[in-house]
Amino acid sequence: MRIAVYGATGFVGGLVVAELLQRGVDPVLVGRDRGRLRAAAAAAGAPDAEVRVAELDDGLALRGAFDGADGVVGCASPFTLHGEAVVRAAIAAGVPLVDVAGEEEYVLGVLERCGQDAASAGVAVVPAANNDCLPGDLLGHLVADGLGELETISVAFTATDTEGSRGTVLMALTTQETMRTGGPVYERGSYVRGAPARRTEVRWPGAAAASPVVRFALPPAVTIPRHVTTRHAEGLASPEVHAFFAGAGPDLVASMPLRGGPDPQSRARSRYTLVVDALGVDGRSRRATLEGGDVYGTTSVIAVEAVRRLVDRPGPVGALTPAQAFDAGDFLDALAPAGLTWHVEDPVTP
Ligand SMILES: NC(=O)c1ccc[n+]([C@@H]2O[C@H](COP(=O)([O-])OP(=O)(O)OC[C@H]3O[C@@H](n4cnc5c(N)ncnc54)[C@H](OP(=O)(O)O)[C@@H]3O)[C@@H](O)[C@H]2O)c1
Repeated sequence: MRIAVYGATGFVGGLVVAELLQRGVDPVLVGRDRGRLRAAAAAAGAPDAEVRVAELDDGLALRGAFDGADGVVGCASPFTLHGEAVVRAAIAAGVPLVDVAGEEEYVLGVLERCGQDAASAGVAVVPAANNDCLPGDLLGHLVADGLGELETISVAFTATDTEGSRGTVLMALTTQETMRTGGPVYERGSYVRGAPARRTEVRWPGAAAASPVVRFALPPAVTIPRHVTTRHAEGLASPEVHAFFAGAGPDLVASMPLRGGPDPQSRARSRYTLVVDALGVDGRSRRATLEGGDVYGTTSVIAVEAVRRLVDRPGPVGALTPAQAFDAGDFLDALAPAGLTWHVEDPVTP
């Protein structure tokens, strides 16, 4: 299997290349600078790996860079600026794609704008295959199962001891208005911006009491309603997580090394939690939780697992959410070796 990685010179791109090699998959490193691509191949321990050069504004070259690949992983960031060119080139080359985007408006845009072309080309395109967006969407599918129509579903995220890569901070700066206001929520068939949170507290797993949460631009808020019948969906985060993303400024970006990210010790300390709460219109409720660590390492595992599944087990085509593309429980179980634990509780009847 040969998987092209656009943005292979970046922090996450490098981790994805390493994960592909670890799994015995041949990476093709793609980007805009041959020297940096060669250096990235060498840094991953594969100095002879194939590199291909294509600028994002050269659609033909980009499409050509994906010819002969079985799949593509998009890692060029910020995705709001660079992601869709990679998606469109993969579609034009007839190659399935996942990307690691966490940008809610971008993910919604790809799902809404690229679906028809992807379906016509017979390929699956799955944005947001990262440590929390993909599990959040899959848990949303599982937690809603059997509850009938939902009144609301919320996805809440918190993290501790977690540093951001430069690319993450630049992404937060690029999408600052969305980060500050919390991004779109789903409300009776539409995506609404600037809506206040319905929930202001979440009791995190193991906590004795509920803690404050705020509206947060989390892609599962726009992906879950594409496969779950619900009147409302929103993303939430702890105030600390929100403050980190909403507060990213140009000085912080300028102070960080280009293409840099947390070192292995820092990544090993990082922990994060997802809580997905569903409330049916009949009053029944249900919770799903997931805990994991190493945001960036886990993202590379998830992106590689996702693209391998698209290649090995072709299913639906079009621009898809994770739960539309993959078997939710089976995918989550496959993440146990990466240290992810998850649980869907029994429904609670009022
Ligand atoms: N849970 C989540 O939501 C989650 C988790 C993990 C990661 N992520 C996302 O993953 C991204 C992480 O980025 P990172 O830390 O890897 O960033 P990075 O180290 O700065 O790398 C950025 C990559 O994009 C490429 N790129 C940037 N501008 C380009 C352009 N104009 N043309 C072609 N290539 C361009 C860079 O190529 P050059 O080397 O040529 O500059 C580089 O390969 C962020 O968007 C983050 O939000 C999300």
